[in-house]
Amino acid sequence: MPPRHDGQSFIVMANRLPVDRCRDSWHTAPGGLVSALAPIVKAESGAWIGWPGTCDETIEPFSADGMHLFPIPLSCAEHRQYYEGFSNSVLWPLYHDLIVAPQYRRDWWRTYEAVNARFAQAAIETAAYGATIWIHDYQLQLVPRMIRSQRRDVRIGFFNHIPFPPVGLVGQLPWREAVLDGLLGADVIGFQRESDVRNFRDASQRFLGIDPDRVSNVIDAYPISVDVDAIREAAESDSVARLSRQIRHDLGSPEVLMLGIDRLDYTKGIPQRLRAFEELLEDGVLAPETTMLTQVAVPSREGIGAYQDLRDEVERLVGRINGRFGTLERGVVQYFHQSYSFEATIASYLAADVLLVTSLRDGMNLVAKEFVTARQERGGALVLSEFAGAADELDRAVIVNPHDISGLKNGIREAAKLTGDDAHDQMAAMAGTVEDHDVHQWAQSFLNDLQNPVNAGLPFLKISTGNTTTNLQEVKHVGR
Ligand code: G6P
Repeated sequence: MPPRHDGQSFIVMANRLPVDRCRDSWHTAPGGLVSALAPIVKAESGAWIGWPGTCDETIEPFSADGMHLFPIPLSCAEHRQYYEGFSNSVLWPLYHDLIVAPQYRRDWWRTYEAVNARFAQAAIETAAYGATIWIHDYQLQLVPRMIRSQRRDVRIGFFNHIPFPPVGLVGQLPWREAVLDGLLGADVIGFQRESDVRNFRDASQRFLGIDPDRVSNVIDAYPISVDVDAIREAAESDSVARLSRQIRHDLGSPEVLMLGIDRLDYTKGIPQRLRAFEELLEDGVLAPETTMLTQVAVPSREGIGAYQDLRDEVERLVGRINGRFGTLERGVVQYFHQSYSFEATIASYLAADVLLVTSLRDGMNLVAKEFVTARQERGGALVLSEFAGAADELDRAVIVNPHDISGLKNGIREAAKLTGDDAHDQMAAMAGTVEDHDVHQWAQSFLNDLQNPVNAGLPFLKISTGNTTTNLQEVKHVGR
């Protein structure tokens, strides 16, 4: 296919489009990735290729909020096999340490290939000569090679938002060679943690016989972050301050308010957290009269059995804890199975004293970074799993192993007591770390590497975010 001269010069590809439909209009969707990339796509008059979120519906390309959007249709059967099946019942559990068992179904794999080919074809047809194409996450791992095989002229980046598993686990995947080769079609392959980079390099060596020090791809860690300015602006606003006071007051002004906010996903360690909390009440270490836990569980992937089982388990545990320790006036765990708006989320961070992040495995965990950013000078404590990517940077948190219930209890007890100058200093230090590495800096650093070709002769692109336009010149070394 000859490159189009009137095509798109900057393209983002992700499983989902960055917009939600509300009746007849489209609105920018909430979330970290969208807040990082939408300004760049807008500034470049760029495009976003993704699934619009419905089945059996073909939607023509359209523009919204200054972005050209190219919807990729999925039939209901493809939604079951590509999205619920291969992406979220094979890759998701395999890449998160087999918390549930993957089902290696060949029909799901074939549909994953077919849907990846559809995404790739849309980019091949849409990209201008020398375009920059940035592909996101595990749902689209075959797309880089598929584009590269037909378009030598474009720059291709891939960023994996979830962990990349150790070689022993990757080895289980019957299609491991195809997945690794698919990723290696990208010029820059980005991961969250250094350990993910090592795992990918080991797997390429073992299963493809590639020496990762001798490839021309850049393979590196780019830890994703949050929109610090947006969080601070909300945290400073009167309406959010009012809402946070209201939340605490409506809960009966407990002495210690703990908080968990997660997608309802088995990777997040919500049952472990509830069990530790229950034992601390049982042991008399936490007093039910003065301590409360608010758990927000955002509905997610509700068509998948493992997610339905998790919901049953969490709701059973919440019921048991409230049955044992609640009173007629109030439960000791407040549980919400619903989404929270951005403002309500920030208000909850301000209302709480302790955030519990107990992931069994997590690419990054942006809730932890949002919490420290919102609290900044306000003290409080973060309990953070060592298995979340955020633990690499937020090492002043109370770091826990959520599989070790006694250790987790100690961590929660320590956090509940953390007050005064210590709490203040630790929170401020962590907020400073996030401020120095926010989501805009993340995007810039990835695009810097992507747009400074190691192979001479490929075109450069100017990237602008917000008010600044940067000519990206720094050249990185290969295969670090
Ligand atoms: C994780 C994944 C994303 C995904 C999000 C929500 O953060 O890394 O790729 O979009 O979960 O999951 P969903 O299946 O609803 O898109």
